[in-house]
Amino acid sequence: MNAKQLAAQAAAALISPGMCVGLGTGSTADCFIDALARRVQHDNLTVTVVASSVISQINAEQARLTVTSLAAIDQLDVYVDGADEIAPDLTVLKGRGQDLVQEKLLAKAAKEFWIIADTSKHVSNIGQQHPVAVEILPAALKLAQQKLAQLDIQTTLRKQPDGGNVFITAAGNLVLDVRLPSGDTGRWARRLDAVPGVIEHGIFHHLVNRALIGDDTKVTTFFPENDAPEAFAMIYDDGDSDGD
Ligand code: 5RP
Repeated sequence: MNAKQLAAQAAAALISPGMCVGLGTGSTADCFIDALARRVQHDNLTVTVVASSVISQINAEQARLTVTSLAAIDQLDVYVDGADEIAPDLTVLKGRGQDLVQEKLLAKAAKEFWIIADTSKHVSNIGQQHPVAVEILPAALKLAQQKLAQLDIQTTLRKQPDGGNVFITAAGNLVLDVRLPSGDTGRWARRLDAVPGVIEHGIFHHLVNRALIGDDTKVTTFFPENDAPEAFAMIYDDGDSDGD
């Protein structure tokens, strides 16, 4: 098993019978879908899942998980997703894909939000490896660009990977990739929330309840500590990195 698969397996091992589980999007979230499906098959685990994207929904259906919609449920017990960056206080950056709005919705709706990742996602500060994705209502693009410029925030309108047309998210919005000036990430997140036309942004501040980080041989679980700058680390190692 690779590091992402180990983290995903550790998260799946924590799922209890009867839970309603939110599924993230991305290669690590895909590993979690596979690991959860194995538990359903081999441990007779009964769970319902809600997907954050069409891709994850199809993957979950193909894995024979019981998929429902957010509209049909009262409570999401846990949301499990990957991340682009993870800071020491467990603020995470997401949004390289096109499903940010639904991802943050599920992260906020769930009783618990768990991040699964490999060690390459650790950063000292959010924005170190990637710009922050800011999803913008198309009609408000110019207004939002002006307001962000007034905050000294540089923006780049995201294009399709081939550099041609503009990038459109699953929610039908545009994306400004922004470089935040240095300073408190939580404060920048609140400032972005207040910009007219901003539908959502990629900073998930004070939302994560645990982060399961895999390396070649083990998974380390980090919990946020109240008001502490560093997370508390606990080693998870099932002694079976072969996954048998
Ligand atoms: C999509 C995301 C993904 O969770 C993030 O990009 C991590 O992806 P991967 O697990 O493939 O590295 O935020 O918006």
